[in-house]
Amino acid sequence: MKQKQVSSFVELTNRKLRVAVLASGTGSNLQALIDAQAKQDASYEIVVVLTDKPNAKALERAKNAGIAAYEVIPKTFATKNDYEQHLLVYLDNHGIDLVVLAGYMRIVGTTLLTAYEGRMINLHPSLLPSFQGIDAQKQAIEAGVKLTGCTIHFVDAGLDTGPIIAQSAVAVDYHDDEASLKQKIQVEEHKLIVSAVELIAEGRVIQYGRRVEIKYE
Ligand code: GRF
Repeated sequence: MKQKQVSSFVELTNRKLRVAVLASGTGSNLQALIDAQAKQDASYEIVVVLTDKPNAKALERAKNAGIAAYEVIPKTFATKNDYEQHLLVYLDNHGIDLVVLAGYMRIVGTTLLTAYEGRMINLHPSLLPSFQGIDAQKQAIEAGVKLTGCTIHFVDAGLDTGPIIAQSAVAVDYHDDEASLKQKIQVEEHKLIVSAVELIAEGRVIQYGRRVEIKYE
């Protein structure tokens, strides 16, 4: 039996999806989203970038693209709830439809999750549910798998456990190490993240419990 629809963005199809990107590091996936947004008449608009790390490269990328960007450093807040409340002020002030976690190396707490569940996606460098958590590429090499890849999923209360939206596979060569595999996966990530955000912006992504339908016409 088909489950009740949990989330869809269908009602947004007549305007650009307002996107926030949360990133902790180099922000190459943020850059892919920025580049795709600039190239075509994009269906989404990145309106704010937030980072939890001082001097993250992601911040520089956002500023170069003229996007509002802020450092919100967790250790400057008394509690995780205080930190996430602060993030929510930025997200709410920018009228965010979708939060994209692109290399955001922090577990989302209940404050952020309650406000954006069903409207928050994460990018993970493995074919989930394999290799959850950190060092996914190292886990894949140690397990000896011949295929790994990347996954975009809705964020839920678990670690990399939310409903899967899209995946892309990458072959693991015997000679691959963590660094080469990371590079191969990133090539796919940059395409997958853009296509997932576009599909969401076009109202083609509909979540039914654990399962997500992608409507291709
Ligand atoms: C990506 O590999 C993503 O899968 C993981 O963190 C990395 C972020 O890379 N969650 P970047 O900061 O977008 O370059």
